[in-house]
Amino acid sequence: MENGVAVRHKGVFTAEVLSNQQIRECYYRLNLVLDPIGSRFFEHVVPGQFLEIDLSGLSLPPERHIPAELRDIAARQVLLRRPFSFSDVVTTPTQDGPCVKLEIVYCVLGPATLRMMTLKSGDVLSLIGPLGNGFKIFQTLKLAVLIAGGMGAPPLLHLGGYLRRHFPAVETICFAGARSCEDLPFTLKIGNLTGLVVDEFDTLGVASQVATDDGSAGFKGFVTDCVRHWLENHTIKPEETMIFACGPEPMLAGAARLAADFGLACQVSMERMMACGIGLCQSCAIEVNKGKADETEYKLCCKDGPVFDSRNVIFQVQP
Ligand SMILES: Cc1cc2nc3c(=O)[nH]c(=O)nc-3n(C[C@H](O)[C@H](O)[C@H](O)COP(=O)(O)OP(=O)(O)OC[C@H]3O[C@@H](n4cnc5c(N)ncnc54)[C@H](O)[C@@H]3O)c2cc1C
Ligand code: FES
Repeated sequence: MENGVAVRHKGVFTAEVLSNQQIRECYYRLNLVLDPIGSRFFEHVVPGQFLEIDLSGLSLPPERHIPAELRDIAARQVLLRRPFSFSDVVTTPTQDGPCVKLEIVYCVLGPATLRMMTLKSGDVLSLIGPLGNGFKIFQTLKLAVLIAGGMGAPPLLHLGGYLRRHFPAVETICFAGARSCEDLPFTLKIGNLTGLVVDEFDTLGVASQVATDDGSAGFKGFVTDCVRHWLENHTIKPEETMIFACGPEPMLAGAARLAADFGLACQVSMERMMACGIGLCQSCAIEVNKGKADETEYKLCCKDGPVFDSRNVIFQVQP
């Protein structure tokens, strides 16, 4: 298996909307089924990879459904495709080849995602993918520590399910953090003797803990502080452990520092504004160490990432 690396090339495909459901105030779950050729290309997609969707032809929702804080920018044209990762990918073999269904969890925060609210069963979308390089799973892995910040959660949900399916011997725990309880794109519930857990991870058989900056749910404080506390109270073998993180850049920088403090390897899924998504426009540059002391170079988030080894990234913001 070519872990983390796209096995097949990318292409332009169509996908039909199966459902588009609101799950929290500003979060929606979009389920798509890919056309037969797209299904072949997405059959071996790995967590952390993404696609770009053309949303330019969609209309705005009725004004009463547009949040007040987005009314000023709602009418802006949506010319560029928008990048989204997957919270789940299910491949079903059929007589005519694989049939791939994708699940995307999106947050409504601008003109394109506002228009996505109007998608309904039977609508057809144009997309490009699979794009980028996802998380790498090494054969030595025995403990996976997932750190999800706010909207960074979807690819880690995909990773949790992927590890359960393909690497069942790997112990996996997810720490989900957000500013407050309403900002978590998840359903919370009381776990069996374990306090508050994330229902979506619990269903996969993946342990989870919740942290909120304001203490409205779970651990009060940054999710990286919650992980630090956990690591301090568990016996960890660094050579068998990997941190996987996705979320806002200060959180990723915090995860990188945490990994360095405990001598752990860490992969971070970076975010940049993306215009083309395929390595042509250079709009998504990330500064990385070149290997020699003090020398850096630029890599492209869409093509070389979005997942990088945290030791190589020069973060623009500090935790
Ligand atoms: C690899 C990748 C995977 C992604 N996966 C998901 C996902 O699974 N679910 C999801 O909801 N969103 C995801 N996003 C972000 C998503 O692409 C943006 O939220 C979307 O493009 C916003 O479009 P818009 O027109 O609604 O808002 P815009 O007007 O384009 O943006 C609204 C606000 O969000 C900020 N913003 C938008 N895109 C980015 C970005 N890429 N990085 C940093 N800030 C940004 C803008 O600066 C602006 O302040 C992902 C982005 C990348 C690069
Ligand atoms: S988005 Fe164009 S090069 Fe990365």
